[in-house]
Amino acid sequence: MKFFVDTADTNDIADLAATGLLDGVTTNPSLIAKSGRDFLEVTREICGLVDGPVSAEVVALDHEGMMREAEILRKIADNVCIKVPLTIDGLKTCKKLTSDGTLVNVTLCFSANQALLAAKAGASFVSPFVGRHDDNGFDGMDLIRDIRLIYDNYAFETEILAASIRHPVHVLECARIGADVATMPPAVIRNLVKHVLTDKGIEGFMADWAKTGQSL
Ligand code: G3P
Repeated sequence: MKFFVDTADTNDIADLAATGLLDGVTTNPSLIAKSGRDFLEVTREICGLVDGPVSAEVVALDHEGMMREAEILRKIADNVCIKVPLTIDGLKTCKKLTSDGTLVNVTLCFSANQALLAAKAGASFVSPFVGRHDDNGFDGMDLIRDIRLIYDNYAFETEILAASIRHPVHVLECARIGADVATMPPAVIRNLVKHVLTDKGIEGFMADWAKTGQSL
């Protein structure tokens, strides 16, 4: 399972990349706004921090506009992945860009049928929004499960990129189902390592080691 971080904060990205556990980055217009930085400049910097795909989202809503913006974005670096919304224009743009060999992430996926369309459009990634699905009274994991089943039925190569992940249990469930990627806020990635018994165990070993009077 690949780990992407869902942020445009370059300090967090650099810190997590240094662990060797980060496989990519996803951004969206809200995260760019939160960073307070210039879109192209911050995307360029992020692309230099990780080897894996960096999703940068178009803001045009029509196919021509999306293609024009994708041209600008894909010149930034080889690891840019163009993020398009799950609309007819977004799917049309996805088909065109992927047939040219460009990575595309189709975002704002809220149904298995939408994910089926993204796969048929040749998407590299589809982003089902687990947390927002849960927020609205649906089960985000049922969505991931349905997409996994459908993609496996037809051997689609589109990777399921579970997004809108809010906590470690979401990550656990996605891993059980077999999502290819989870994109998580930095705090969720950092929380995955935590366990009270790990901390307690270290404390006990350190106390006993001190009693030996030895050093390494
Ligand atoms: O990048 C898209 C997605 O991960 C957003 O998450 O928490 O705003 O629903 P959230």
